[in-house]
Amino acid sequence: MTSLRRAASVADFRELARRRLPKILFEYIDGGSYAEVTLKRNIADLEAIALRQRVMCDMSGLDMKTESLGQKFSMPVALAPVGMAGMYGRRGEVQAARAAAAAGVPFCLSTMGICSVEEVARAGVPPWFQLYVLKDRGYMRELLRRARAAGCPVLVLTVDLPMPGARYRDVRSGFRGLTGWRMLMNRAVDGVTHPRWMWDVWLHGRPHTLGCVSAALGGESVGDFLTWIANNFDRSVTWQDLDWVRAEWDRPIIIKGVLDPADARDAVRMGVQGIVVSNHGGRQLDGVRSSISALPPLVDAVGGDLDVYLDGGVRSGLDVLKAIALGAKACLVGRAWAYALGAGGQAGVAKMLDTLRAELEVAMTLTGCQSVRHASRELLDRF
Ligand code: FNR
Repeated sequence: MTSLRRAASVADFRELARRRLPKILFEYIDGGSYAEVTLKRNIADLEAIALRQRVMCDMSGLDMKTESLGQKFSMPVALAPVGMAGMYGRRGEVQAARAAAAAGVPFCLSTMGICSVEEVARAGVPPWFQLYVLKDRGYMRELLRRARAAGCPVLVLTVDLPMPGARYRDVRSGFRGLTGWRMLMNRAVDGVTHPRWMWDVWLHGRPHTLGCVSAALGGESVGDFLTWIANNFDRSVTWQDLDWVRAEWDRPIIIKGVLDPADARDAVRMGVQGIVVSNHGGRQLDGVRSSISALPPLVDAVGGDLDVYLDGGVRSGLDVLKAIALGAKACLVGRAWAYALGAGGQAGVAKMLDTLRAELEVAMTLTGCQSVRHASRELLDRF
């Protein structure tokens, strides 16, 4: 499989991205924290769930559409916030946002995106905006003001990264830890051995700054952003800080990074509109449970008081159906779109979304699931 035309699955987009992107970027996307136990668990636990095949159900009126927080989804999928996407494809966040808009699904812009919220909003539909809790509340307030002015309808507050997890692959690839001429040599060799990326991103995808936080980053380069995170993300954050966020943001708020029923109940108590059941794609605390195994108890804990989304390990439309059968309103996909962007820009992301849609359609048809809004645990044989 050498071209986007022949890419049939998320695994194929991954393989194309592996070949096209510099090693430090591919490893950054692909990797998880520590021994990557949770990263593997996210995928394995989804795989282990068996769908229940049903036949002769008249599936002619199958409906994949859903609605949540005033947002319409053509299928229960959204693009998760992924940092630095503008390094995986030229103005990558804009390309992905356009593909998502064309497919009728939300795109969530990361705080750590290369393109600013204004640039993405100008390109089409205003994105959902993801924010980390920063020590500098004045800067946070300014980001919220910008997201509001850009028309972002939903705030996704990520709370599972008070500090970056230890990601060994980033050290091994040279993404972290190198300085001076060693870093320059590493990046130069990595770049010139990936000429297509050099042409597309390095030469024509500038500026390579983090559009939303470049002012705060000061002189630090994109490559130093993990150090910036370690210095500027706020570890003192508690649920009470949500009162402050809500005073600055009067649209729906989703808390991303919830794995425990007690935390889910706190989210309900604080009056937020949604949570993302997530372990950051196995990139933060390794060894925690998979997102899909955490989903049923969290759905039970919130009892319909807010919308529950899931991310982590979603690699196919079958996975999407399993998650909504267990109570998720929709799935956020992270690596799947990052790989697709690296593999083929906007066309790659569009094709990946088409692939998920086609897979979901088959899965719904053969489980007798007429509408994603009525999916239930009845669709599963074993979980
Ligand atoms: C992420 N993720 C993430 N989350 C977030 O809230 N803000 C961010 O800036 C990022 N950045 C980021 C970069 C990369 C390269 C990856 C792979 C992931 C986490 C992301 O939103 C999501 O939780 C996971 O990617 C879901 O797991 P899968 O779909 O990648 O298995």
